[in-house]
Amino acid sequence: MSADWAAFRALFPTLRHKAYLASGSYGLLGAPVEAAIRRYMEDRLEKGADWGGWVARAEAVRDGMAALLNAGADEIAVTASASAGINALASALDVSGARNKVVVSNFEFPTGAQIWHAQERRGAVVEHVPEGPDGGIPLAHFERAIDERTKLVQVTHVCYRNGQRLDVAGVARIAHERGVLVLLDCFQSVGALEVDVKALGVDFAVGGMLKYLLGTAGIGFLYADRRRIAEMVPTVGGWFAQADTNAMDIFANDPSPTAARFQAGTPPVMNCYAAEAGVGLIQAVGVAAIEARIRDLTGEAMDRLAEAGCKLATPREDARRGPQVAIRSTDAAALTERLAERGVIASWRDGNVRAMFHAYNDVSDIGALVEGLTAHRELLA
Ligand SMILES: Cc1ncc(COP(=O)(O)O)c(C=O)c1O
Repeated sequence: MSADWAAFRALFPTLRHKAYLASGSYGLLGAPVEAAIRRYMEDRLEKGADWGGWVARAEAVRDGMAALLNAGADEIAVTASASAGINALASALDVSGARNKVVVSNFEFPTGAQIWHAQERRGAVVEHVPEGPDGGIPLAHFERAIDERTKLVQVTHVCYRNGQRLDVAGVARIAHERGVLVLLDCFQSVGALEVDVKALGVDFAVGGMLKYLLGTAGIGFLYADRRRIAEMVPTVGGWFAQADTNAMDIFANDPSPTAARFQAGTPPVMNCYAAEAGVGLIQAVGVAAIEARIRDLTGEAMDRLAEAGCKLATPREDARRGPQVAIRSTDAAALTERLAERGVIASWRDGNVRAMFHAYNDVSDIGALVEGLTAHRELLA
């Protein structure tokens, strides 16, 4: 049975007056998420404090993310951001010994690369995996960089600036053959594409709830394979990272036996309400249906953009892309501005205008995008 996409679209009031194509920057506010944020305020006004209820909201987010990623709840840390998860993980990693190399792809979002470069003070050596001549990163380049001196490789699922999807399972296979840990950044795919951490074979994964997961900023997650958790003791932590949050022990650090050891302080309560509702929306429709819908929309958009003479930085092949279509421009900031004046909300990075689709988009948004771009041909590359 196919989803009722018109009904889904109607949950997002912004779409009544905008062709919104910036979900990889910030997802739209849906009616159920708005209601959840209101519920938080009502609970605050009525009860004042509700620690039990608030912790339950954070646990609901953990359970929702576990289901979405095909992980166990014990393998999910609810964090304040993707960066917070990477920092906690980095703090637990010994990068001073014979295996002190961290490999990062050139498709990483800055925060990941920056955090690993920050570990250089602790002995880490960071090696970047460069693009090939076609702008993609072939597995052979990972093969070259990952060696017996490597501790961890960070790989992004879908690149934030050109929409290219990497062969994460292929990278994980190479890494594991060499005893190397794999950290996946799935911020630009989770909620829009199937992210099955077990099928991909990654040891860790990070992301957040403000984009395709339809929640809000200020909340993220770290997945940690339960077989890796015991050997990792973060030095970035806090009382919500303890085996017993209520132990109130100031004489020892007793990390949780679960991935919660990668958490820190009080959960972002209001954001948990929003994230629970956002993840719930994704689950109600189903990621497989959302992924198929986005594949159709982006495929049609790419065909029409190519016909209109746009040069695309995103490969057309379905397996090599996700929810983003990146259009080359001579002045991406100006072109994005021109589109916004016409009610077409896109975003830009790295010389590309980024049209980032969610399942709530439809062909009218594609039409508005093509029309807006062709009306400003002088800014197309
Ligand atoms: C792929 C990717 N990774 C990481 C981040 C940063 O996440 P956070 O701000 O939660 O640390 C972003 C934010 O846009 C992103 O797109």
